[in-house]
Amino acid sequence: MRDPRTAALPDLTGQVALVTGAGRGQGRSHCLALADAGATIAALDVCRDLDVPSYPLATRAELDEVVADVERLGGRAVPLVADVRDPGEVTAAVAAVEKAFGRLDVLVNNAAILTSAPFWELSEQQWTAVVDTNLSGVWRTTKAAAELLRRSPRGRIVNIASTGGVRAVPEFAHYVAAKHGVVGLTRAMAIELANDGVTVNAILPGAVDSPMLAGLADELGLTPDDVHKRWLHDQLLVEVIAPAEVTGALLWLLSDSARHVTGHCLAVDGGALAR
Ligand SMILES: NC(=O)c1ccc[n+]([C@@H]2O[C@H](COP(=O)([O-])OP(=O)(O)OC[C@H]3O[C@@H](n4cnc5c(N)ncnc54)[C@H](O)[C@@H]3O)[C@@H](O)[C@H]2O)c1
Repeated sequence: MRDPRTAALPDLTGQVALVTGAGRGQGRSHCLALADAGATIAALDVCRDLDVPSYPLATRAELDEVVADVERLGGRAVPLVADVRDPGEVTAAVAAVEKAFGRLDVLVNNAAILTSAPFWELSEQQWTAVVDTNLSGVWRTTKAAAELLRRSPRGRIVNIASTGGVRAVPEFAHYVAAKHGVVGLTRAMAIELANDGVTVNAILPGAVDSPMLAGLADELGLTPDDVHKRWLHDQLLVEVIAPAEVTGALLWLLSDSARHVTGHCLAVDGGALAR
């Protein structure tokens, strides 16, 4: 065990981290921080717009920029274009990581989408897209990566859920159901991977300043400020949360200080869950 004064920051030198939804927002922030901590980054994103959600997703240029920024930091990264809804693409992406680096130590399941409507107005397409991306995508990616992570001397999985993973928010029934699923999946995977020394935890962000919130604002015909206000009234600390603050929680979960933390949900939510 390292000195507790430094053990709360991970030393990922020689390790490989796969981050989904890496092209922008929180995923981008996670990639840069993990590279700074010494990890080689496999940055995965779908890099195209889909029928759901109505807002644009990350572009190939944005993903390439993440890779370039990691390289500017003196790190190493590879871009992986894959859709977490597609088992073939996810399996191929993990195979590419194995071929390039021969190992995988950290998986951050971050990719997700968001739409909003009362549950009785949700289309089959909205329901399926949100559940398939936000919940099944986590299972599918982790399933594909499990063998490599089990071989790692210190495998770590962090699933980015939401405060909506442990309580309900009106007009997001599909998102809430999917994120509750992510919390359950986190606990189930923590149990099944414990014998291999792999920890599995979730982070529950509150309202984070990212293109997802801006995209939702567009979809609802609101400004990002209105959307922030609508969500922030719930938080005790009523400022929007920066992606870097979620990254801070991620870094701690990947550190030596957290090596006995597994099956846990860590909220970075301005105190919203205290209500
Ligand atoms: N922004 C918030 O307020 C907030 C709050 C709570 C939880 N979260 C969670 O945080 C995580 C990151 O979200 P963000 O705020 O950075 O949003 P974002 O929209 O900026 O980032 C999501 C990324 O996922 C990618 N993606 C979407 N569908 C994909 C697919 N099928 N395959 C591969 N990649 C795909 C997008 O291209 C994008 O780069 C998500 O899990 C989200 O649910 C966000």
